[in-house]
Amino acid sequence: MAIDVLPLHPLFAAEMRGVDLASTTDREVLARIRASMDRHAVLVFRDQGLDDRAQLAFAERLDGQLHAKTGISALAANRFGNEALTDVSNVDADGQLLPADDRRRQYSLSNRLWHTDASFVDPPGRYSLLSARVVPPVGANTEFADMRAAWDALPEDLKNLCAPLRAHHSIAHSRELLGFSFSPEERERLRGVEQPLVRTNPATGRRSLYLASHASAIIGWPLAEGRLLLKDLTEHATRREFVYSHAWREGDLVIWDNLATMHRATPFEDKRYRRDLRRVTTLDLPRDMPAGATV
Ligand code: OGA
Ligand code: MN
Repeated sequence: MAIDVLPLHPLFAAEMRGVDLASTTDREVLARIRASMDRHAVLVFRDQGLDDRAQLAFAERLDGQLHAKTGISALAANRFGNEALTDVSNVDADGQLLPADDRRRQYSLSNRLWHTDASFVDPPGRYSLLSARVVPPVGANTEFADMRAAWDALPEDLKNLCAPLRAHHSIAHSRELLGFSFSPEERERLRGVEQPLVRTNPATGRRSLYLASHASAIIGWPLAEGRLLLKDLTEHATRREFVYSHAWREGDLVIWDNLATMHRATPFEDKRYRRDLRRVTTLDLPRDMPAGATV
């Protein structure tokens, strides 16, 4: 079957048709998906119906090593028994809706802040693959912002200011922004890392702003000035013209490049409707590294 790529937005994001991800082992098809990721940064695949095993295995075939030390895994047991599969749902192990004060629910609310996945580890996350198993009847879109377009649109003086800067990223920061609190032990485990504020994709040469709600400070700057710069850049980068909003259907798999985009969840009646999405995130390692995570 021929592979088609249909743009979903003037700047980025596309739907790829004609690929069955669960069975794709063809190196040329995998290379085509990676090249399309470099170009579009977000790829939507409809009607995939992946199960956990197929999702994990496909992520490894596509991009090698998986991120397994997710933030939440420091706090709660993973309901799938595999730390590489992140639970992006509002249900418990029995499929029941999480109550309003549930700690995992509270923690996950920070997904509604603009962020990129796994910027708080080194090497950081590269691709996220989010699979929709159950979606509510209304809303609950995921929004994506193109951080390459945001970089391109910055005035020259801001580009020069940002290019050499580094920021501190910790998942504790994005949670604390919404009032979540950690024990001193948890905080220590979620200490975070430094990341460049600007990245270059080695395959395309395109630069992008590397921002996230996990970013708490600009290294070497006073705290307030650093946070103000991060806030101003985030406002700039998430202007509507840079944003694609994805309306989920069951069976979707959406892949995004965390080094070239930000994303956020949007509100829905989460105490009324079930939403069960599951995510695998790969690490930004050279592609010839052997896959290390087990499936
Ligand atoms: C994620 C995430 C947003 C959403 O899975 O990393 O941020 O809409 N999800 O669930
Ligand atoms: Mn996320």
